[in-house]
Amino acid sequence: MSKSQRLVEYLKSKGVAAELWRFPDRFTAIGRMIDSYLSGKTDADDAAVHLLFSANRWEKREAMLAALHAGQTLVVDRYAYSGAAFTAAKKVPGLDLEWCKAPDKGLPAPDAVIYLAMKPEAAALRGGYGNERYEKEEMQKEVARQFSLLADDTWHTVDAAQSIEDVEIQVRDIADSAVAACSEGPALRLLWEAKNKL
Ligand code: TMP
Ligand code: MG
Repeated sequence: MSKSQRLVEYLKSKGVAAELWRFPDRFTAIGRMIDSYLSGKTDADDAAVHLLFSANRWEKREAMLAALHAGQTLVVDRYAYSGAAFTAAKKVPGLDLEWCKAPDKGLPAPDAVIYLAMKPEAAALRGGYGNERYEKEEMQKEVARQFSLLADDTWHTVDAAQSIEDVEIQVRDIADSAVAACSEGPALRLLWEAKNKL
């Protein structure tokens, strides 16, 4: 079971209505194009692919908002921050971080981002790694650098090299606080309204 799924199960066990979402959603028409690109079956222009990833979030916007307004807590495995960090890491002239963030502007923003930090060398030892596009050490190092530029006031970094129990304790703690803060009713924020941490 993924860490995100485990978090959903934990929240549910506490009586919080929670759902697991993940991006890319590989099962829509756009998602199938993304899946084909990630698995290396097809190539595509970097900007075009970036916009597909973003469109894959926009096509889920109404459903996300409906779930949120119905009181669901959404645990989302990757979102617009991955979108911006991965494309910016490619260093394509013109596609800088601001360009990469732009298409997601206006999507619902997360109340808390949990960033599981792990050295690319350690990540490479994990199962299921290395088969898809981007799963290369150099790329992952640059992605981590781009993520650090995206850190804002929603951001929480957890050291993923710790034991799974310790990671889980911290992740749960962050999620508990976010759920509690939201139940006090702050308005839904939109991307990219959070304040940068730098
Ligand atoms: P995952 O399904 O294992 O999370 O892999 C998705 C891959 O796609 C991962 O390498 C990150 C990348 N990605 C983007 O490049 N842009 C995006 O918008 C998202 C959500 C993921
Ligand atoms: Mg993967």
